[in-house]
Amino acid sequence: MKLLVVGSGGREHAIAKKLLESVDVEKVFVAPGNSGMVADGIDLVNIGISEHSSLIAFAQEEGIDWTFVGPDDALAAGLVDDFEAAGLQAFGPRKNAAELEWSKDFAKSIMTKYGVPTARYETFSDFEAAKAYIEAQGAPIVVKADGLALGKGVVVAETVEEATAAAHDMLLDNKFGDSGARVVIEEFLSGEEFSLFAFVNGENFYLMPTAQDHKRAFTGDKGPNTGGMGAYAPVPHLSAGVVDQSVETIIKPVLKGMIAEGRPYLGVLYAGLIVTAEGPKVIEFNARFGDPETQVILPRLTSNFAENITDLLAGKIPAFTWLETGVTLGVVVASEGYPLEYEKGVRLPAKTSGDIETYYAGAIFNADQELVSNGGRVYMLVTTQETVSQAQKVIYQQLDRQDTAGMFYRTDIGNKANQ
Ligand code: AMP
Ligand code: GLY
Repeated sequence: MKLLVVGSGGREHAIAKKLLESVDVEKVFVAPGNSGMVADGIDLVNIGISEHSSLIAFAQEEGIDWTFVGPDDALAAGLVDDFEAAGLQAFGPRKNAAELEWSKDFAKSIMTKYGVPTARYETFSDFEAAKAYIEAQGAPIVVKADGLALGKGVVVAETVEEATAAAHDMLLDNKFGDSGARVVIEEFLSGEEFSLFAFVNGENFYLMPTAQDHKRAFTGDKGPNTGGMGAYAPVPHLSAGVVDQSVETIIKPVLKGMIAEGRPYLGVLYAGLIVTAEGPKVIEFNARFGDPETQVILPRLTSNFAENITDLLAGKIPAFTWLETGVTLGVVVASEGYPLEYEKGVRLPAKTSGDIETYYAGAIFNADQELVSNGGRVYMLVTTQETVSQAQKVIYQQLDRQDTAGMFYRTDIGNKANQ
């Protein structure tokens, strides 16, 4: 089989690497990918994710069996629909199903209609009305841009003033462009957060191990929200009851609802959940794999990944199997300054071997063919060990030995599991 993965981050590195492990896979191409993937035998294709017709032409010329679409913006732009229209198979939701991610208002209306537990909310496009609602509700309160905003369109406001300023930024100052032309304002929920991922075809779904991301930039959950600075899977302190309850009250009704709406879901569904005193509730749905969660989930897959996805695409029952023991943990190394301004071109340490995997995101070969930084999140070290604290020890000892000048990482990934 020859496969294509669309995207360029650590998530796509992990997807492509796992696909290459399948015995029947001859080649995995990633478009556009990044230079850090090359050492794993992945082939890069210099086509951007928004160049739909070039991606289609490449898939046709190469005889690609199917394409795995990684990023949210490609799904929101209808890449899967365009592949299908060209007679090609692509794994990911169509644009109308991916709306669960690209419009928070749509996601909220589906949850309301099908009784899925989530924070109480209202949607506004008029600033004065938003302001009045915030004043009536009081703080803490959460203000969210309706559309995609690279994980940065959410403000958890401690005060009415902060919430009003966020609504002002989005609705009047166009801080997020069209994505913030509408805002969802919702009740603040408190509790433990976790991510629940499933491979989905229609009503059939196959759960992955639970995972926990670390969204804030700095150690101790300080600093601005980022795409994610580290993760581990499974989350050992979540009870099986919480996962079962999430399946019954969230995953099953939303998939049924999507079918009833004429938008059957195919692809990876990612539910961002919070365990409240009243049970698990949805913070957000994403229509794709998470980054960095993928880099700690997929190493735990013990079945033939390419065959599993082939089966899902064919409407057959895939035989997913997972490592049952231990924990997989990873720490992201990012450019100093991320998620704001940062330098590029910093030389990267040599790729790890043995029981530590390196997944690259913002990495590129310079003119001397040396791997240098080229993005906010640069690389991630991942290991599987018996316990969270053993995995932390292995990763942090390795990071101590690496030259990470010009870059930074959190020193507390996984700590919540040890408390
Ligand atoms: P999101 O981009 O929707 O995942 O939101 C980013 C972060 O904001 C989440 O990981 C939560 O920590 C926080 N958040 C979002 N919605 C809520 C809410 N309703 N209550 C409390 N925290 C929230
Ligand atoms: N890890 C957060 C995300 O992928 O959106």
